[in-house]
Formats: sequence, C-alpha cells, structure tokens
Amino acid sequence: MKKIILGLAVMALMLTSCNGNCKQEQTTATDTAKIVTDLMMSRRSIRAYKDKAISRETLNEILKCGINAPNGKNLQSYEIRVIDSPALIDSITKAVVTDKPDIAHRDGFKNIFVNAPCVVCIAYDTNYDMAQIDCGLLGENIILAAWTKGIGSCCLGSSARWILDSPSAKPYLDRMAFSKGYELLYCIALGYPDETPDAKPRRNDMIRFME
Ligand SMILES: Cc1cc2nc3c(=O)[nH]c(=O)nc-3n(C[C@H](O)[C@H](O)[C@H](O)COP(=O)(O)O)c2cc1C
Repeated sequence: MKKIILGLAVMALMLTSCNGNCKQEQTTATDTAKIVTDLMMSRRSIRAYKDKAISRETLNEILKCGINAPNGKNLQSYEIRVIDSPALIDSITKAVVTDKPDIAHRDGFKNIFVNAPCVVCIAYDTNYDMAQIDCGLLGENIILAAWTKGIGSCCLGSSARWILDSPSAKPYLDRMAFSKGYELLYCIALGYPDETPDAKPRRNDMIRFME
C-alpha cells in the first residue's frame, strides 16, 4: 500500500512539475527514438572480433533483453546455450572440421563461429508452429542489446547446420542437452568488433501498401 501511495505521489509530482519540463520530456522522447532508430540502422553483422572475452554479467544483461522479446502465447518456445569457453569453442570446431575439413581452409580461420569468442546456440520447439519466429525475435533482441554495449554479432545458420550434420560434433550437441522435441536452429556469434563493415544494400521492392 505504501508503495502505491509513493507511486501516486511521484506521479502527482511529475504532473505538477510538467509545466516547466514538458518540452524537455518531449525532447527526451525524440532523442530516445533517434537512439533506437540509429541502433537498428547502424547494426551490421560482424565477422572479425577482438581477442577479448565478454563478461558473464554483460552476457546476462544481453540475454535478459533477448528473452523479453515478444513470443507466441508467451510459451518462450526456445532453449539457449551460451558457450564462452575458448577451449569448448575449439573442441567443437575441431570436431566439425574433422568431418568438414574445407571449412578450415578459409583465410584467418580460427573457429566455426566466424572466429567469435562467444556463441549463443538457440534451439526451437519442433512441436510449436511459431517457435522459429520466437527464436528469430529472441535473436534480434540479443543482437540489438549487444550492439548497445559495443558488442558485435553475427547470426549463423551455417554453424548450426555443420554441428547438426557432423557425427564428430554429436557429443557436443548431446552436451547442449536440449529438451525432447527441441532442435538446434541457429547460432549467434558475439564479440567485440574488429571491423566496421558497410551496410549491405536492401531491396524495398518487396514492400507494398495495399489500398
Ligand atoms: C537466418 C540467418 C542466417 C545467417 N547465416 C549466416 C552464416 O551462416 N554465415 C554468415 O557469415 N552470416 C550469416 N548471416 C548474416 C547475414 O549474411 C547478414 O545478416 C546479411 O548479409 C545482411 O548483412 P548485415 O547483417 O550486416 O546487415 C545470417 C543471417 C540470418 C538472419
């Protein structure tokens, strides 16, 4: 009850003090809109990373934003595994490369997650028809939250496919221990960027307004 009264008192204070500050509040809202738009428009997929770990505290903040994304019926039909151990990333890479040696022939190859120091593996509930949408929205929130912290990312369909298709990587897939009915869908590489790629052109001919 005390909290409600305190809340009402704060609201009343905000309303009464609006006379002088409304303009400032409007400006702040405009600034926020610009910040969010700039964030979305400046994000790029990053495929070169600094050799610097992301703290678990920062990762948790990013993932919290991820799971706050809209999702069908609030079922949260995904499971997430975060791998930030260089040794584990190397072991998974070695396993996949055993079956697909061509992957390692790329210039500067270090690992199967575009050389990132951290990767988020996302599995979807195969029994829910909207689960892949949930996973996509989860991922975009992760990506944008990371970008606010100066952390780059890259969505990776290929890495997930390689892991799924590699018999040598099966023990690592098993270690991810996704629940029954859940399947690895994609990965998100995360790390401090060591490149500033230009924006790739977008088509807009697929957008049409219907009268
Ligand atoms: C579902 C999905 C899968 C992707 N898979 C890969 C991938 O396997 N390897 C890669 O380098 N980039 C991958 N990307 C990143 C895209 O290539 C990238 O988002 C696109 O070229 C647009 O560039 P931008 O993200 O810098 O705007 C993937 C993106 C999405 C959304």
